[in-house]
Amino acid sequence: MHGHVRWVEIDHRALAHNVKALKAHVGPAQLWPVVKGRAYGHGEAEAARTFLQAGADGLAVSALAEAVDLREAGIDAPLFVMNPAVPWQAETYAALRIRAGVADLEAARALSEAAEKAARGGTAEPVPVHVKVDTGLGRFGVLPEDAVSFVKELHRLPGVRVEGVFTHFASADEEDKSFTRLQLQRFNAVVSALAEAGLRPPLVHAANSPATLAVPEAHLDMVRTGLAAYGLYPSPSARRAAEAAGVRLRPAMSLKAKVVSVRRLPAGSPIGYGSTHRTERETTIVTLPVGYSDGVSRLLTGKLEVLIQGQRRPVVGRICMNHCMVDAGDLPVRRGDVVTLLGRDETGAEIAAEEWAGRLGTIAYEVLCMVGSRNPRVHLYGESSEGGSGA
Ligand SMILES: Cc1ncc(COP(=O)(O)O)c(C=O)c1O
Repeated sequence: MHGHVRWVEIDHRALAHNVKALKAHVGPAQLWPVVKGRAYGHGEAEAARTFLQAGADGLAVSALAEAVDLREAGIDAPLFVMNPAVPWQAETYAALRIRAGVADLEAARALSEAAEKAARGGTAEPVPVHVKVDTGLGRFGVLPEDAVSFVKELHRLPGVRVEGVFTHFASADEEDKSFTRLQLQRFNAVVSALAEAGLRPPLVHAANSPATLAVPEAHLDMVRTGLAAYGLYPSPSARRAAEAAGVRLRPAMSLKAKVVSVRRLPAGSPIGYGSTHRTERETTIVTLPVGYSDGVSRLLTGKLEVLIQGQRRPVVGRICMNHCMVDAGDLPVRRGDVVTLLGRDETGAEIAAEEWAGRLGTIAYEVLCMVGSRNPRVHLYGESSEGGSGA
């Protein structure tokens, strides 16, 4: 057994289940899970392997460095960097056979030159590129009216092959889908214009998790699904749509810690920095070796509960950098007992990342990243577990 006092457990059966369920939902569209941000805190190489074994067609990341990490971890599958390439990265794309998002000619020319140079060395093929179209997010991309001429320019470059065209939704997680539909309409118009010019690439894509679950007409040739692959619903509307379609996701991450101190304290005992909490009656206060340096934000002070023996108990006093204190009441807790701060415990009780997000005023994406990236990871594949290193 691993020797950690705090750790995140990653349930790979849940990751595999989610990918299979999503693939069945979007088929025949391809499923490219998004493994940026250390796979939303789940550990990129391990999550990547499980997703691919479960049937993912390729993997998407945000930055080139993340794709390089995956190649270095031995992942040979198709990798797509969603952020548009910048010229100085071109040689790495060509050398490692990484698909590039492109949004300007300068970067595309650099990719083409890098591929040609590598080909002279006898190794590389044209770099597959996906053209990013800005239909309303306002972050990156060519404008819809410039897309056809841009793709024509790309076809003149011998070292790139236009494999895809894509866009990204600004608000697919909102109840009101009218802007998402407008973005999709703009994007479909670009794809029709490309088709008329005989330039439609094989992979046309737009959907993130909310669109994967709630906007089926956005599935197109492939989906880039992040959050849902980790078992979380990006919004209430996405949850409803998923349930209506029979897609049941399973969260894969939980945060656990071992009790390191158990004390019976009298009524009126001050707890933590600033003595902001006082026990109302005699009670058992347990200390957990996990605090804000481990992703349990101090902003959760007064708002956090944990699971002890299947019961919700409050974290009391200010959350410290490396510790927090829990009022366990009269539960028979012993040093070394395992407490669940996030996710499901052995009794089936659960504290969801969405609950933390609501209390913090953020989104579940951030909760997964902050918890998953700051604690040692223990990967559970079946009966056995494998201790991993934290980030
Ligand atoms: C371009 C792009 N596509 C897809 C995704 C995946 O989003 P989600 O986690 O909602 O599936 C992201 C993540 O923000 C993204 O930036």
